[in-house]
Amino acid sequence: MRPEDDCQRCRLCEGRARLVMPDGDPRSPLALVGEAPGAKEDEQGRPFVGRSGKLLDRLLEEEGLSRSTVYITNTVKCRPPGNRAPTQEEMDVCFPFLEEELADRVVIITLGRSAARDLLRRDVRLKDEVNRPQEITIRGSKKLLIPAYHPAASIYNAKVKDSLRETFRIARTCLEDRRTFLSKGT
Ligand code: URA
Repeated sequence: MRPEDDCQRCRLCEGRARLVMPDGDPRSPLALVGEAPGAKEDEQGRPFVGRSGKLLDRLLEEEGLSRSTVYITNTVKCRPPGNRAPTQEEMDVCFPFLEEELADRVVIITLGRSAARDLLRRDVRLKDEVNRPQEITIRGSKKLLIPAYHPAASIYNAKVKDSLRETFRIARTCLEDRRTFLSKGT
């Protein structure tokens, strides 16, 4: 299931140029979930292609990952006006699409507070929860969710960049541990 090209399920349809659908490897066990498309994403129809996306690509590569090996999406597929955060109602309307996208993932990194709230279904104080993996269930299957800072917050902040690098290292370790666990047949 994906939103129809003329999706009008919420009022975000009024201001968008296009839907911004996921990017990266559609079969990747690792998903990154951002907040919402910005101006560049709305123009190009791909997530994280603007300034924070370039930084995200660079940090992923520094940690041995890349856009082409992970799955990248957003809580909502249309740009909120003026780059405001999506409302709970807008995220709820788009949630069935996100659930479907994540149903087969193993590890999910949420980038920023909106994405963490959307998937944890509760309020989140990022600074208390960043880089602490927790289990969530999507459509009956368990996943590890790692709350992370949004790359936009790291543009002028070296500590946030380090935190994001750490997020990607944790995600790799979680995926490797799971592979070892499965190959031992335990
Ligand atoms: N910020 C996001 O959260 N998502 C994008 O796709 C771009 C910027």
